[in-house]
Amino acid sequence: MSIHMNRKRQIEGTTLVIFGASGDLTSRKILPAIASLWDQEQLPNEFSVIGVARSPLGDEGFRRLVMESAASWDSIGTYIENFHYLQGDYTSISTYQSLTKLLDSIEQTRQTGKSRLFYLATIPSLFGTISSLLGESGLSQSGASGFTRIIIEKPFGNDTSSALKLNSDMHRSFSEEQIYRIDHYLGKETVQNLLALRFSNAIFEPIWNRNFVNNVQITVAEQIGVGHRGGFYENAGALKDIIQNHMLQVLSLVLMEAPALMTAESIQNEKVKVLSAVEIPSIAEVASRTVRGQYVSGVINSEEVKGYREERDVSSTSKTETYVAMRLAVDNWRWAGVPIFIRTGKRMPKRETQVVMEFNRAPHLPFIGGSARQLGPNRLILRIQPEEEIKLVFGAKVPGQDYNIRSVAMNFSYADTFKEVSWDAYERLILDALLGDRTLFLRSDEVIKAWEIVEPIQRAFSDLDFPLYPYAAGTYGPKEASKLLQSTGHYWHNS
Ligand SMILES: NC(=O)c1ccc[n+]([C@@H]2O[C@H](COP(=O)([O-])OP(=O)(O)OC[C@H]3O[C@@H](n4cnc5c(N)ncnc54)[C@H](OP(=O)(O)O)[C@@H]3O)[C@@H](O)[C@H]2O)c1
Repeated sequence: MSIHMNRKRQIEGTTLVIFGASGDLTSRKILPAIASLWDQEQLPNEFSVIGVARSPLGDEGFRRLVMESAASWDSIGTYIENFHYLQGDYTSISTYQSLTKLLDSIEQTRQTGKSRLFYLATIPSLFGTISSLLGESGLSQSGASGFTRIIIEKPFGNDTSSALKLNSDMHRSFSEEQIYRIDHYLGKETVQNLLALRFSNAIFEPIWNRNFVNNVQITVAEQIGVGHRGGFYENAGALKDIIQNHMLQVLSLVLMEAPALMTAESIQNEKVKVLSAVEIPSIAEVASRTVRGQYVSGVINSEEVKGYREERDVSSTSKTETYVAMRLAVDNWRWAGVPIFIRTGKRMPKRETQVVMEFNRAPHLPFIGGSARQLGPNRLILRIQPEEEIKLVFGAKVPGQDYNIRSVAMNFSYADTFKEVSWDAYERLILDALLGDRTLFLRSDEVIKAWEIVEPIQRAFSDLDFPLYPYAAGTYGPKEASKLLQSTGHYWHNS
């Protein structure tokens, strides 16, 4: 066993219990993150994992899964013996009784306190049941010799009322401070850098308001289609899958006021305030502010790809949206009158997540004739993925005798500037949950505010007559999305 002496931050001996240990999230995200944290000497030697699921894996099968899903695990050695498996039905109290025994025995053998982190990596409809049974079996209480916390993954409900129910189901067994709601976007370095950019520099905040900003654009473009997740996506759609969570999270960090301190509570308070200021459209207003689209076949990277309705497990008459563009307004002193455009889509030309702050144009251009005709507005572009960079677009003179002005970009790239490796979002978030740092997690009221914003849109979309515009795979969405901006004199900035 490798001995990790110099842990960067102190984590006590803890047992991580993963419900849904046979699933996709466990293999693709959780186990690789644990492996990487171990390799980076972030975890204590007394760290154990219990996988819980119905599949008959056994300790050996689970350990094989651990090795397969974390192929690059350099220093595992005999540490693999600290991975255990409990086969059981999530809805039966006997599973939780067996879990209690296993936890007690591991904690006794390893001579640790009773710090336990439960990770619900199974289907969301089980979240309420699992947390209730953890409560009933006495596993939800934090004892004197350790913490008890629980992580859940989106979706946090399907609408406002189911999200409220999920909160109240969970609060029956766990206090809000014990619940860690993951939105993995918040684990991304560039998303966190939004706060650093805004609040550690003096030059941006003075112009970060309606007096200087003409409009804000947030784009989450995916190049992939639905792949093997057609069945899941048919019940989700872009509004619920991306806008309700990731996009409204990014929006709140871009538009919120400065927190007094970089603490979870201060930041979450400011996020809730700005989400509360987002104007909630009436169902009748949704049509004039929202464009809903679905991809049809097209070409991406010179390859023909099929349309959404031809994908596996998708109905040939599906009305599920794979694209949404919206114009939002934030009714507060800072943002009154500034349109906030957001859009997300699948099968777009490339994968990119970015925020564009478009500034007002110079009030007067003294240059003769058309010499500044190629000059676009000043923009600050925060690219979140795939490249992590910040770009400032401004006018510069083209070399030569004529006084031609053209837009140029000044670029800061994470990869070029820092030697330190960016942490994967799950590594960061799991470590924070172990450390009890809630800054990058969602509070219950944030989740509800976000549902309240999307709810009228959800209702409008459920009307079968609400327009669903086709767009060819490999394009930036239906032309109606461009018209949405043109109607107010704006246009999308595509990279
Ligand atoms: N996968 C991702 O990339 C991803 C991304 C973001 C969020 N999430 C969220 O993370 C959670 C887990 O996602 P996942 O993709 O890992 O799910 P999954 O693979 O569909 O399910 C995880 C495990 O839950 C059990 N399970 C599945 N269907 C069940 C059913 N009907 N009744 C009882 N148990 C069932 C299965 O284990 P057993 O049959 O062995 O019990 C399965 O291996 C979900 O909340 C999901 O929304 C996932």
